Amino acid sequence: MSQRTLVLIKPDAVRRGLLGAVLSRFEAKGLSIVAMEHRTIDGEMADAHYVEHVERDFYPPLRAFVTSGPLVSLVLEGDEAITVVRNLTGATDGRQAAPGTIRGDYSLSNRENLVHASDSTESAEREMKLWFPSL
Ligand code: CMP
Repeated sequence: MSQRTLVLIKPDAVRRGLLGAVLSRFEAKGLSIVAMEHRTIDGEMADAHYVEHVERDFYPPLRAFVTSGPLVSLVLEGDEAITVVRNLTGATDGRQAAPGTIRGDYSLSNRENLVHASDSTESAEREMKLWFPSL
C-alpha cells in the first residue's frame, strides 16, 4: 500500500554536511520525494511539531536544538513508507541504533539523532498538514 510520511533532516545533519548522505538513503531505497523545504523553524513551530513531548524534561534542550539552524522537511512516498522510513532511520538513541541505519551509522546521541520520521498514519497526517499545508 502506497503511503506518505513526514521526515525532518535535523539541524545537526545539515551542520555536519550529511544532508546528501541522509537523502541518498531514502532515494536509494526507492522512495519518492513529493515535497521538500529548507528552513529554520521558531519555537512555536517546534512546539506544534513536538506537541506530545512539550511537557517532558528533555523538551527544552530539544526545542533549542531543533530551532538552532536550518533543517530540511520532506514528504516521502512509497509502499509502506511509514514503516520503511522508520526502519531506515533506526532507534531514537543513536548509541543504540543498529549499524546500517541512518542513526546507527551517523549519530552518537539520543537528542542530536539526525532525522525525525512519523511513527503512525495518524502522526504522518498531522505532521504533513503542519509542515506542508498546501499538499
Ligand atoms: P524524534 O524522532 O524527532 O522524536 C522526539 C525527539 O526527542 C527524538 O527524536 C530526539 O531528538 C528527542 N529525544 C527523545 N528522547 C530523548 C531523551 N531521552 N533525551 C533527549 N532527547 C530525546
